Amino acid sequence: MASAITLTVNGDRRAVTASPDTPLLYVLRNELHLTGPRFGCGLAQCGACAVLVDGAEMRSCITPVSSVAGKRVHTIEGLPALWAGKHGASGDKSALHPVQQAWIDEQVPQCGYCQSGMMIAAVDLLQKNPSPTVAQIKDAFTNTPPSPHLCRCGTYNAIISAVQRAARAMNG
Ligand code: FES
Ligand code: FES
Repeated sequence: MASAITLTVNGDRRAVTASPDTPLLYVLRNELHLTGPRFGCGLAQCGACAVLVDGAEMRSCITPVSSVAGKRVHTIEGLPALWAGKHGASGDKSALHPVQQAWIDEQVPQCGYCQSGMMIAAVDLLQKNPSPTVAQIKDAFTNTPPSPHLCRCGTYNAIISAVQRAARAMNG
């Protein structure tokens, strides 16, 4: 049965009406019109739906919306504000997150379908490890549970370059 659930998404409190077990991905896309997270497999096996929940990557396709009530959810759309927030009141909320800018500068996307999940994974990695080696980047994208991040277009080398570029930018 549907019930009222309050979420904090990209810094804003949002009230939705949904069954508690509705996947977070459906609520983000269909109720809140945040279409950055994508439906790929629906089984936590591809990474296209990844979002940050309290700063850590989570697969929104298998996450019941009720489980994130009271937690901070960030989608790809919220990365500029997330980055600006790290610089206090002086932060520019219109500026892209360094990860997003690096993705543009390295021309990573091909079809683009997987890329919002890839950028979420990169933000998660750089929060935990500000200067990852190539081996650590590969490990983060392939060996971090619940599954590798899949790109059918094969943009993996460009992703490594973009993560390294973003790391340099974020480390000043
Ligand atoms: S759609 Fe969620 S991991 Fe594939
Ligand atoms: S850019 Fe096409 S699936 Fe990754």
